[in-house]
Amino acid sequence: MAGIFRKNDTAGRAAGLPRHIAIIMDGNGRWATRRGLPRTAGHKAGAETFRRIATYCKNIGVQYLTVYAFSTENWKRSADEVGAIMGLLKKYLLEAVDTMEKDQIRLRFFGDMTPIAPELQALAQQTDAISDQLAPGDFQANICLNYGGRDELLRGIRRFAAECAAGEKKPEELDEGLFSSYLDSAGIPDPELIIRPSGELRLSNFLLWQCAYSEFYFTDVLWPDFDEAEMDRAIAAYQARDRRFGGVKK
Ligand code: IPE
Ligand code: IPE
Ligand code: MG
Repeated sequence: MAGIFRKNDTAGRAAGLPRHIAIIMDGNGRWATRRGLPRTAGHKAGAETFRRIATYCKNIGVQYLTVYAFSTENWKRSADEVGAIMGLLKKYLLEAVDTMEKDQIRLRFFGDMTPIAPELQALAQQTDAISDQLAPGDFQANICLNYGGRDELLRGIRRFAAECAAGEKKPEELDEGLFSSYLDSAGIPDPELIIRPSGELRLSNFLLWQCAYSEFYFTDVLWPDFDEAEMDRAIAAYQARDRRFGGVKK
C-alpha cells in the first residue's frame, strides 16, 4: 500500500514506520460463534493470524510487536477455554524453540508467570534463553500472558518499594525513566501504535503506563480475519496522524 515505507525502501527502515506496534488480539470467540464453531476454534484461527502478522511486521521492519494473548481477567472463562488457549500457546512455543533462531525472532513474555503451568513456564524460559543469544536489533515479539496493566504497575511498585525498604533505592530517585525500568516492558520504547480489532473501543487493562502517547487504531474486523492489508491500513492511519505530544504544531 502506498505511503508505507518498507524495510528495503531507499527511504530506509525507520521512515514513517512505528518502531513498536501493540495489538489487542480480540474477536476470536465471535469469529467462531458466527461460523457455528466452538470458541476454541476461534482461538486456533487467532493463533494462525498472530504467526502471519508477526512475520509481516518483521518483514516490513517493525522492531517490536506486543500482543495481548491472555489477560489477568481472562481466568473468568471456562476451564475448557482457558485450557485451549494455554494449549495453543504451548504449541506455538514448541515451534518457536525450533524456528526462532533461523527466523531471527526474539520472544519475550509480559505478565505474571507464577500461576502459569510449569511446562509452559519452562518453555518460556527456553525461548527466553534463545532470545538472549539473538542480536538485540532483531525483531522482537512480546506475548502478554496473564498480563494486566494494573498488575504490571503493582508488581513494579512493590519491587521498587522493597528496594527502598532495603536501602538500595531512594523514593526521590524515582522518575519516569527509572519507573519504566521496573515494568515488564523495561528497555523497550512505548508503542507508537495500539490496534484493537473486533469493534470494542476500550483498553481492557492493556499497557496502561506505556500507552500515554500511543495512537489508537480500531477496526470492526475480528482478529482471525485481520490480515496484511488491514495492518497496512492501520499503519497508513498512524502515518496520517499529527502527533503533538502536548506541543503546538509549527
Ligand atoms: C480474544 O478473543 C482472545 C482472548 C481474550 C484470549 P475473545 O475470546 O475475547 O473473542 P470475543 O471477544 O469473545 O469475540
Ligand atoms: C482483551 O480482550 C484481552 C485479550 C485480547 C487477551 P477481552 O475480550 O478479554 O476484553 P473485554 O472483556 O472485551 O474487555
Ligand atoms: Mg474479547
